[in-house]
Amino acid sequence: MKRTLIFVAGATLAFCPMVKAQDAAAQVERGRQLFARVTKGTACASCHSMEGVGTAVGPDLKKLAGVIGPRGLATTIQMTMTCYVQEVTLKSGRTFPGMEKSKANGVVEMWDLSKFPANLVTVKESEIVSQKTNSTWGHPPTKAGYTDQELADIIGYLKAASTGTAKTVTPEELQ
Ligand code: HEC
Repeated sequence: MKRTLIFVAGATLAFCPMVKAQDAAAQVERGRQLFARVTKGTACASCHSMEGVGTAVGPDLKKLAGVIGPRGLATTIQMTMTCYVQEVTLKSGRTFPGMEKSKANGVVEMWDLSKFPANLVTVKESEIVSQKTNSTWGHPPTKAGYTDQELADIIGYLKAASTGTAKTVTPEELQ
């Protein structure tokens, strides 16, 4: 009898919209914590800014998280190829993985990602010898060893912060 009661209660909870909303809100909170201060690898917030938290070195995640689904986001977070980060070589012979921040009047501001935290360098356009496909810098989450649940929580948070609507993201949706 007790078992049946527990089962019925469980089944009712699973279909209850209130409980679902609470689940989603709890996931957003877990994701928010992971984004800001995860202990695996480097926290996303050391290179991305979301809801006013973090340093905007990498791209603004609001744009992408607002339009692509959980699986696409998981793939991008674990990408091994970069499109913004390039291997920059200067006339001085110095080479570093750089991401352009701004360019005006022949002067380029770049994040030097060989340093952590990334270092903002200012160079004259004429000092840049080449900008090639990056093969040295890797996006930190590729090696951080996140569990699928942790990734789902981070993605749940990114989507909620971008769209304004919290919706639970399951680990299965990332596959
Ligand atoms: C050391 C800095 C750094 C850390 C830490 C970092 N990122 Fe990134 N991220 C970048 C850079 C730089 C890019 C641009 C890569 C490229 O050239 O495509 C990027 C790109 C992305 C993109 C693709 C954005 C787009 O519009 O193409 C996503 C999504 C993303 N990061 C999410 C995350 C998440 C989530 C975390 C934490 C789990 C994280 N990043 C941690 C620096 C970082």
